[in-house]
Amino acid sequence: MLKGRDIVTINELAREEIDRIFEVAREMVPIAEGKKKSKLLDGYILANLFFEPSTRTRLSFEAAMHRLGGSILGFSNPSATSLSKGETLADTIRMIDSYSDVIVIRHPLEGSARLATEFATNPVINAGDGAGQHPTQTLLDIFTIVQEFGQVEELKITLMGDLRYGRTVHSLAVALSYLGAEVHLLSPRTLKMPKHVIREMKCKPEIHEKIEEVISDTDVFYVTRIQKERFPDPTEYMKVAGSYVINGELVKKMKSSAIIMHPLPRVDEITPDVDTTKHARYFKQAFYGVPIRMAILALVLGVV
Ligand code: NCD
Repeated sequence: MLKGRDIVTINELAREEIDRIFEVAREMVPIAEGKKKSKLLDGYILANLFFEPSTRTRLSFEAAMHRLGGSILGFSNPSATSLSKGETLADTIRMIDSYSDVIVIRHPLEGSARLATEFATNPVINAGDGAGQHPTQTLLDIFTIVQEFGQVEELKITLMGDLRYGRTVHSLAVALSYLGAEVHLLSPRTLKMPKHVIREMKCKPEIHEKIEEVISDTDVFYVTRIQKERFPDPTEYMKVAGSYVINGELVKKMKSSAIIMHPLPRVDEITPDVDTTKHARYFKQAFYGVPIRMAILALVLGVV
């Protein structure tokens, strides 16, 4: 059902398609862990085009492809490519499309992945377009919640931190609202969720500025870093840096079953002493990036 499809926003995936991705991802877990071998993507080439820094997204797509016996080409430093000579994104995409079977792109401009789909014949997967969307991150985020709680419905999920510039929370808020979660948004006033994202949500979220309002009854805390690189003015950044910090003391006020997630990288929003508490799930969440991306690749390439 996903063969040949582009994945640019989470909105374009139907509920059954998300369920299918999760079903395949579950089968991929032992392969992602290295316990089982697979040649499912033998002979396929992934083009990984990273115009912005990345650790997890790029490397988990690479790990996914390697674990399934496929190959990878691409770059993580665009200054070393002909783009620095003035080549357009359209020309770069057209050509790389002819070298590969699927393209993964991360770019600082919103709308860049959509543009890439217009010049590629093969599937294009958006790995983050500026402050736009990050749909594969959303899939692994929801997968993590489902693996923990069995479902998303009726869970109280608090997205917190930089809701304005953080793209992971833009895709996630929309998806969670459609999946029946009770979504709460916690941010400083200057970093509120953009109105256009709230309009896309199925149910209106509750808005908070104080962590005390949600600390004791939230099931899932989704913490984000302040997106320093997207601030037009550094003094504005300094005003909000370190707004909410989850530390060992705060964790004691949480429900005993609550989990803490973070797309990573973290800066100082979660102190290291939280890592060893029963609530921390961010490293597990980062691992799930591999089986989820294996499932997405296998599905858009039409091998499962
Ligand atoms: C996020 C991103 O790039 O949007 N990282 C990721 O993909 N795991 C979050 C961030 O940079 O803060």
